[in-house]
Amino acid sequence: MKGVLICGGTGSRLKPLTEITNKSLLPVYDRPLIQFPLQTLLAAGIREIAVITGPEHMDQMTNFLGSGSRFGCPFGFRVQEKPEGIAQALGLAEEFVDGDSVCAILGDNVFFDDLSPIIKNFKEGAHVFLKEVSDPERFGVAGIKHTKNRNSEIVTRNSVHVLSLEEKPKHPKSNLAMTGCYLFDARCFEVIRHLKPSHRGELEITDTCRWFLEHDDLSATILVKDWIDAGTFESLFRAAEMVRSQRTAL
Ligand code: G1P
Repeated sequence: MKGVLICGGTGSRLKPLTEITNKSLLPVYDRPLIQFPLQTLLAAGIREIAVITGPEHMDQMTNFLGSGSRFGCPFGFRVQEKPEGIAQALGLAEEFVDGDSVCAILGDNVFFDDLSPIIKNFKEGAHVFLKEVSDPERFGVAGIKHTKNRNSEIVTRNSVHVLSLEEKPKHPKSNLAMTGCYLFDARCFEVIRHLKPSHRGELEITDTCRWFLEHDDLSATILVKDWIDAGTFESLFRAAEMVRSQRTAL
């Protein structure tokens, strides 16, 4: 499996901080935000990673990440010319992924669960990780059929059955947000090629996932620990607080 670390976007909700650098290079307590999703990939044994970012941030990104030798993993870099969606960014990694399966992760997502068992066991189709939130309208949202295993620590592949996926719905069908870590087989690239831009002018990762749902080939797990999309001042600050309390508890 290959990894794709997606660090595009303008970071508009974090201006003026994002006038200086890419959102994923902003500090979270003692390290840049990007190190958290990177660690999620590395912990799952992924050793080939493409990093996608905008032209204005490529210098800083390569300065920080370098060849990857510091992290024990070679990086490939791809430029997303315009911020036209997460799915578009993933599409730029098609050659890099080269027919393999892929774990795409957003550069501003911090996971406190261990996703490795699921990433390592992934074979085909698509898999998404869901998390209960109080403000689902800010995210992609999954409507699910409730099952007994809902709160178990180890949620197995079929324990949650997704019925619908919607990007930032006004009237969410549940409070389960789609987090920014997605597992796909190589068909995702063909799907992305046929996507139409959404009303916000982007190729949506949620639409990519929905194709797999409609082909009965999407599975999902519900996360039990914390998850943060650090795209706002509040969530970036909360990420720093949580990382700090974990470090000082060690
Ligand atoms: C993106 C996705 C959304 C997902 C979120 C997770 O939203 O479009 O489906 O729930 O990441 O971080 P964005 O951060 O681009 O608004």
